[in-house]
Amino acid sequence: VRTLYFDGEKSSLMAIDQTKLPSELKYIEIFTPRQLFEAISTLAVRGAPAIGVAAALGLYAIALRLEDKDTRGFRYSFKKIASFISSSRPTAVNLFTSCGRMIASLEYGESIEEIKASLKKTAFDIEREDVEMCHAIGRHGQALIKDGARVLTHCNAGSLAAVEYGTALAPVYEAVKNGRTVHVYAGETRPLLQGARLTCFELTRAKIKTTLICDSAASFLMQSGGVDLVIVGCDRMAKNGDFANKIGTLSLAVNAAYYEVDFYVALPSSTFDENLPDGKGIIIEERKPEEVTDMFFSSPISPAGVGVYNPAFDITPHTLVTGYITEKGIFKKPPI
Ligand code: MRU
Repeated sequence: VRTLYFDGEKSSLMAIDQTKLPSELKYIEIFTPRQLFEAISTLAVRGAPAIGVAAALGLYAIALRLEDKDTRGFRYSFKKIASFISSSRPTAVNLFTSCGRMIASLEYGESIEEIKASLKKTAFDIEREDVEMCHAIGRHGQALIKDGARVLTHCNAGSLAAVEYGTALAPVYEAVKNGRTVHVYAGETRPLLQGARLTCFELTRAKIKTTLICDSAASFLMQSGGVDLVIVGCDRMAKNGDFANKIGTLSLAVNAAYYEVDFYVALPSSTFDENLPDGKGIIIEERKPEEVTDMFFSSPISPAGVGVYNPAFDITPHTLVTGYITEKGIFKKPPI
């Protein structure tokens, strides 16, 4: 299954509604700015690469419906909408890069039709590049995974976090394709349970041996010698190799260093932020308290009125990273 695609007949972005997984596999149709903003901000579409591609294809669907009659008005309306979409989530740099590339492509074309053609090309380029980069990450990263390897991952950086294949899970898929047996430990990833709901969904569907653990079990699992390597995804990487990923990644990195377990981050170059010297400049999204006080949007598990701190991401310093798995190869030093 493709996480998202552009439906040419409907001229709409179609995306799996990931808030419904694993109980329901259903696509939502997106063709208005509000729908695109909500799909990203509610995490119906989530994962840095998927957010970037959704923004590009979604903005193209929106552009096809703009009613401006002259190119000046068209460019103005599009820029306003792209900046609104950019504000849907703050951490994954792919969102800003995609919106920026779509805005830049407004300049190629003398008529509205030509501008739309330019937007189309950029949106489909962004989608194609994502697929190619994820597969290349898989081909490079599989070398790290020996037959029988036990891999610990966090959140979901698999096919559901990209158009297909994913980043952190791409090496696992590729190793399995090459005939190796891999056992993945998936951290549940409180509070929104992307590990329990999404990583376990896609790996069990792919018939890959998967064991779900509470986030707090990871340290003990490493201490017991149960993990050969950790591979996580990335939402934004600074020039020195510090990177943001789902909250809990930093704890895994600290534990991996303590227990001498190799710790890898997998990322396409669309996740590099060349403007940031180090991780201190990465904006960390804070999400609403109910995600923590209530059990996955259902009944409360905490008393009303309790204070809540709910950062959605944390920053892992480069000093804790064994290597960076990218579409260009595996690097010991930050690849930018
Ligand atoms: O809040 P989410 O679900 O969008 O967070 C996703 C992650 O943290 C992923 O690990 C990251 O985006 C990399 S996905 C290839």
